[in-house]
Amino acid sequence: MPAITASSPGKVILFGEHAVVYERPAIAVPVAQVKTKVTILAEPLKSPGSVLIESPAIGLHADLDTLPADDPLALAIHHTQAALNVDHLPAMTIRITSSIPVAAGLGSGASVSVALTRALAAFLGNPLPDEKVSLIAYQVEKKHHGNPSGIDNTVITYAQPIFFTRGQPFELIPVAEPFTLIIADSGIKSPTILAVADVRKCWLENQVFYESLFDKIGVITQQARRFISNGPCHLLGPLMTANQDLLKQIGVSCPELDFLITTALDAGALGAKLSGSGRGGNMIALVAPDLAGAVSAALIQAGATNTLITQVLPSKSNC
Ligand code: MEV
Repeated sequence: MPAITASSPGKVILFGEHAVVYERPAIAVPVAQVKTKVTILAEPLKSPGSVLIESPAIGLHADLDTLPADDPLALAIHHTQAALNVDHLPAMTIRITSSIPVAAGLGSGASVSVALTRALAAFLGNPLPDEKVSLIAYQVEKKHHGNPSGIDNTVITYAQPIFFTRGQPFELIPVAEPFTLIIADSGIKSPTILAVADVRKCWLENQVFYESLFDKIGVITQQARRFISNGPCHLLGPLMTANQDLLKQIGVSCPELDFLITTALDAGALGAKLSGSGRGGNMIALVAPDLAGAVSAALIQAGATNTLITQVLPSKSNC
């Protein structure tokens, strides 16, 4: 049997992180420059049920049945088996590679779950529809991110820009004109679960204030959606910076991110903000394409450990 491979992208949140946990809308786009790849090889000479998982990036080389039950890879596999009614797995080796930095706001965890679920379902001869893949990735996120909104698994599964409100059907956003983003890594690892839990604590202590911040972010996100769908996209810049001011008030920025954001703006970016759970991880800046190189160089000079330049392109139906 030939090897089966599935890949999935990373993501950035353009608007609405944290507020989305509290049912305000958010916008996210896939990032194809980084990805997870899962390859599954049949092992006909091994005994049925022998499932070896190799993930060199995290130093993992282990049999499935030695992983703790709440291990994210084990969970994705068991949820996929349950979805397909497969009690016993044939012998296989699962290889996972990823260029998505971990705990950096780019959706590394959800991307692994999506690629693994798709590869395993295809390997078992029964590819799952996107809704099921996204749901399985969400179930894994729930175990590891505390109270995820579901935006990461959704944008990564569908690999298109989305407008997402928790508890409601998500919408694919048509993109009117291309726009260019720089994604810069602060180099600080920041697990989503901690930032989300801290925001919850602050919200419990001061609900009126936090609800008003989330409302303002919701209004910005709605405006942003109109600029993405109808243009002009350069007006997303000031909205990003306004969203960042509110994220600072929520308490999820940090001096290193603030510095990168100021650097990007000083170098000519149209707007900038943190992306994801904050406290570290990545920031994003909207730039005119001809300034992308200069802004990226300024960010590296200011301490970013890596930058990516990505374009959000018009939807095919708009071309
Ligand atoms: C994480 O990418 C985005 C957060 O809003 C958490 C979530 O939506 O689950 C911080």
